[in-house]
Amino acid sequence: MSDIWPAAVRDGWHPVAYARAVRSKPLATRLMGRALMVYRHSTGVAVFDDRCPHRNVRLSQGCVKGDAIVCPYHGWEFRPDGQCTRVPGSASCPAVAARSHPVTVKNGLVWTSLAENPSPFPALPSEIGNAAFDNYWWPVKGSTANLADAIENLLDPMHSYFLHPGLVRASRTPNSMQVDLTLGPWGCEARYTENRATMTWLQRVSEGDRVHSYGRYFAPTIVQIAFEDKRGLTIAITVILAPEDHHRTRPYAHFATRKGFMPAWLKRALITAFNLPILFQDRAALADQARNAARFGGPDYAIGPVDFFGPTIWRLLNGKPQAEERKTFQITP
Ligand code: FES
Ligand SMILES: [Fe+2]
Repeated sequence: MSDIWPAAVRDGWHPVAYARAVRSKPLATRLMGRALMVYRHSTGVAVFDDRCPHRNVRLSQGCVKGDAIVCPYHGWEFRPDGQCTRVPGSASCPAVAARSHPVTVKNGLVWTSLAENPSPFPALPSEIGNAAFDNYWWPVKGSTANLADAIENLLDPMHSYFLHPGLVRASRTPNSMQVDLTLGPWGCEARYTENRATMTWLQRVSEGDRVHSYGRYFAPTIVQIAFEDKRGLTIAITVILAPEDHHRTRPYAHFATRKGFMPAWLKRALITAFNLPILFQDRAALADQARNAARFGGPDYAIGPVDFFGPTIWRLLNGKPQAEERKTFQITP
């Protein structure tokens, strides 16, 4: 597939690593098909192309010495802005640099942009890192999926009856549910109002009496699923989707849960146990979708009446306008 990315993605900021995973060794990662290397120095974190400018071996296989990254092949050293500072065997150094990228470490993630002129840093949902909630990141590896399909999978409410029966849904029959949709140039929100009968036992334990749930898409790459009871937010799952390439997308998933109704460690263990099989089911479906679409030369998607998010995702990812709009839809069994 081509190396062309939608402008909003190409120019945007994306997470490339968890900050806590960047320790004394350099870390290899990928973004939009570009192999990157992340390392920690005395005053922060640096992101380079994972390629030594000398003979192009992987800098991620090297080591960190003071503030420098040392190439494993001939030992050239590069400082955090990429400049070469030492060539073993010589007192001089050529005016070359490893390709460095801008870095921001925020909310536990290392973010970078591959753009010459990056867009402003995205506004993140306020639940991330908010001390009013118990919150944590759930590190998982990338899925075989393109960015748009991975985003839609997280937000699509209908597949859960078929792909996750017994987990997200109590049965395979869609329950009556009102969907209030708000769309705009920023993205899309669906507010779901349904009754308690559709909840699984684990959801009842962890969420109490759910009143509303929400799916939110903040273009281009942020997704949030949130649940509320009478007292307000119970769980907000925010996922930032980072495209490793056109076939692989890594979800950076953050959980914020209301404090108090059970110890944070127990909640985390329960939520992880609950979400792990869901993750595997989604990963398998996304991989099948990607591979099968490829057998037919690429995606060719029909749009159904309960595809609430797909068209908005495709529009905004591809730089097309999304008008302000509100509508209500009734899901029927
Ligand atoms: S390839 Fe890196 S120093 Fe030679
Ligand atoms: Fe799913």
